[in-house]
Amino acid sequence: MNGNLVKIFDTTLRDGEQSPGASMNTEEKIQIALQLQKLGVDIIEAGFAAASPGDFDAIRRISEQVDKSIVCSLARCLEKDIKAAADSILPARNKRIHIFLATSPIHMEYKLKMKPSEVLKKAEESVRYAKSLIGDVEFSCEDAGRSEISFLKEVLDAVINAGAQTLNIPDTVGYRLPNEIGDRIKELSLFVKGRAVISVHNHNDLGLAVANSLAAVENGARQVECTINGLGERAGNAALEEIVMAIKTRQDIFSPLYTNINTKEIYPTSKLVSLITGIEPQPNKAIVGKNAFAHESGIHQDGVLKNKETYEIIQPGDIGLDNNNLVLGKHSGRHAFKDRLFSLGYTLKDDELNEAFEKFKILADQKKEIFDDDLRALVAEEITKIPQIFELVTLQLSDCNPGGVPNAAITIKHHDKLITEAAIGNGTMDAVFKVIDRVCGVGGELKDYKVDAVSQGKDALAKVIVKVAFDGGKPIIGHGLNVDTMYATAQAYIGALNSYMSMK
Ligand code: KIV
Ligand code: ZN
Repeated sequence: MNGNLVKIFDTTLRDGEQSPGASMNTEEKIQIALQLQKLGVDIIEAGFAAASPGDFDAIRRISEQVDKSIVCSLARCLEKDIKAAADSILPARNKRIHIFLATSPIHMEYKLKMKPSEVLKKAEESVRYAKSLIGDVEFSCEDAGRSEISFLKEVLDAVINAGAQTLNIPDTVGYRLPNEIGDRIKELSLFVKGRAVISVHNHNDLGLAVANSLAAVENGARQVECTINGLGERAGNAALEEIVMAIKTRQDIFSPLYTNINTKEIYPTSKLVSLITGIEPQPNKAIVGKNAFAHESGIHQDGVLKNKETYEIIQPGDIGLDNNNLVLGKHSGRHAFKDRLFSLGYTLKDDELNEAFEKFKILADQKKEIFDDDLRALVAEEITKIPQIFELVTLQLSDCNPGGVPNAAITIKHHDKLITEAAIGNGTMDAVFKVIDRVCGVGGELKDYKVDAVSQGKDALAKVIVKVAFDGGKPIIGHGLNVDTMYATAQAYIGALNSYMSMK
């Protein structure tokens, strides 16, 4: 065991996906997992296999493609969950099962309806069973933040004896303060005495998840569970980028501790996650927010011009944010396009590059200047593409005047057949959704709609994200990207439908 390595366990694809509205399809999860591996994450929690066949399939496909990071699958202390978790990660080169059971009085009494002695027995049996299937087992005492420390010690002892090598101490409801977490982790580390790695998993209900994680690291935790952009249940989990940059920037405190993260991949990873989930970090978010490196006041600008360190403790380049922002346009060739993508951290396969270049050319005809964020959005669309069961070909809209009858005419390709239809609606957007429903024979219910300008200028690309529920099911996310907002809207709605059809 390397005592100075702080392992980064990323749970964007599991706890992060539990953020309201952050559901992702399998292709999107695979691309995020591959980017997390590039980032240098030690362990990727790919999902909760028993939750649904879709989750199981996504973990399995991630396991087939990720070959450096450990792929981890979550399970409750139930034999069927543990078996599903083990099966889902079977193809992975490095694999781990993560099982959890609540240990706090309130969870044991009201949620589990189990006595502490039963919890203890179940935890031990489950770890033993998991260990018979996969060598690397992690155990989490859910709601450890509100559990009695003496009971935590009993449980930890039992699961270490059953074979767990990582003991996770989650502050599930984000209740603790940094000094309390520090004290508890210190006590548990002394108790465990190097028999297993102590891990922390802090939620952000009081805005303390990162501070609590750092306090834990200072007191002996050597694994931190976190998510990109701090996504996660309720107020989220501890943000990976903040923990990693704090350890790197404050080596005067943390040395000789280090992480395996390649910090130059932080910005590309954050961007990919926000493009896929449609959840942008708040502008003033540390490290990856839009304003994290923006100096508005004259005094600050003057200082930074004289010496960057007057007001910057981190350089944008340290997190892979290239301020050079070289602009491409319609005269830029394939070579310049490929070079720029490469410097943004993308290496596309030949067929992906060809398609992305085609799209770039179309875009360059519509838009004078193409910025890095346009390229990132374009590539994200390309690499997370799902089978186009229905494909938008043309869209015509008319009469959006007050008192008029808005209508939309559309042509959609379906199994090589072109279908053209028209519909009227209460507004242009309503007409677009109605005509798509009519052509595709579905009745989607729009749950959320969001449009953002990808970069600057009147001709900026519109990035539309919709969440649509089909057949009364869980909302499915769809993306659209075009200089025309209504066209991007139609693409997004059809995208959600395609995602739904491929999941089915
Ligand atoms: O917050 C929590 O307790 C969890 C566990 C499943 C680790 O997410
Ligand atoms: Zn959690």
